[in-house]
Amino acid sequence: MASRENFGSKLGVTLAAAGSAVGLGNIWRFPIETGQNGGAAYIIVYIACIIILGIPIMISEFAIGRRSRRNTAGAYEALAPGTQWKWIGRLGVFTGFIIFCYYTVVAGWTLEYSALAIGNAFEGKTAEDYKTIFSEFAGHPIKPLVWMAVMFLLTHIIIVKGVTSGIEKYSKLMMPVLFIIVIILVYCSVTLPKASEGLDFLLKPDFSKITGNTILNAMGQAFFSLSLGLGCLCTYASYFAKDTNLTKTALNVCGIDTFIAVMAGFIIFPAVFNAGYQLQPSDVGPSLIFITLPSIFQESFSQMPIVGYIFAVMFYLLLVVAALTSTISIHEVVNAYIQEEWHLTRSQAAWVVTGICMFLGFFSCWSFGWLSDFKIFGMTVFDLFDFCASNIFLPVGGMLISIFTGWRLDKKMLKAELSNEGSLKVPLFGVYTFILKFIAPLAIGLVLLNQLGLFKLL
Ligand code: PHE
Repeated sequence: MASRENFGSKLGVTLAAAGSAVGLGNIWRFPIETGQNGGAAYIIVYIACIIILGIPIMISEFAIGRRSRRNTAGAYEALAPGTQWKWIGRLGVFTGFIIFCYYTVVAGWTLEYSALAIGNAFEGKTAEDYKTIFSEFAGHPIKPLVWMAVMFLLTHIIIVKGVTSGIEKYSKLMMPVLFIIVIILVYCSVTLPKASEGLDFLLKPDFSKITGNTILNAMGQAFFSLSLGLGCLCTYASYFAKDTNLTKTALNVCGIDTFIAVMAGFIIFPAVFNAGYQLQPSDVGPSLIFITLPSIFQESFSQMPIVGYIFAVMFYLLLVVAALTSTISIHEVVNAYIQEEWHLTRSQAAWVVTGICMFLGFFSCWSFGWLSDFKIFGMTVFDLFDFCASNIFLPVGGMLISIFTGWRLDKKMLKAELSNEGSLKVPLFGVYTFILKFIAPLAIGLVLLNQLGLFKLL
């Protein structure tokens, strides 16, 4: 096996893993889910899911990765040789591959919107204009492809540079920029004249809004947002040093990811309420970020257009940075697998991943244009990739990871890994293994059945 690089510092480890977690999921998916599931009450349920499921599964991925020091498929082969468990890792690699083929499309849009914001293209437009701008851009046969390719290449360049001088160095550079942008945007948004309604919405829970679906949505969102279930964090952990405190790192990453998601709410809702806008069911995903928000930014800052301009530019740059730190982690899951299992160099493996995913990415991109009528199981290529990855493969992956850690992995070995061979205390080890054995597989199983429409909770 080729010698493996390690992350150089503890800060690098935390920022790289947090970079993977903090992404488009935090900034567009979380606020809209919050909006549609009753605000503060949803946030409380979400945080409960992070604590009960997210943290234990993240710790498991870390332990599996660092113990085996292999790519995510190799990891299961190393820990359970000659068994079928390696399929968990292979499924993860496949999931990463699929996510890469559509996530990068949206990542490319964030580049176009940054360019539009910088060029002040939003000025003096009506709500109708924003719809046209978006549909003309996303449906264009070439433009979104170009931006997507730029995103692929940026990711590729960082990956080829390697773990320390690529992933770690750029995470250390980009994550602080992301924090600064978030803080500035939160400040601008909460100081808007009618921001308080938005704040009430985020801070005053209305528990009557919680239904079975709220809980299920929150769980699914927690997985996607923490990058769990596909071995992304397992792959990163295979580069952790021996003295990295796995439990502490998982707590930090979950904390940062949740903080940024909640802050995204503090950026979006005060502005939305200030503009007197009612969120529509159609405001999901792309349309909230690329159609509704430009118009809200415009309206909110109509008295101070320059602040509105800076706000929009920073917001879209924030999305670019968040997306890029996540795309590198998705690329790395597949890359590490191809490099180690196919015995290629890092750069050769990276070209294989970039080349194939870019090719398939074209088709997900065209789902918004000339391929919009081409449907498989009633879904466009983009929707199919998204549905399969986030609704099926991630939860299945997460469930299998908890079953593997809870039932198959030797508990002495697991404890040795979490305690760094006895040098750290492992509090609540019994609770942790209980969750992995029983609670996580059951809870995720329910989410899965619900999402597939095979079972309706409440
Ligand atoms: N966690 C990322 C986000 O919130 C998405 C992601 C999923 C990244 C799976 C890596 C793996 O946007």
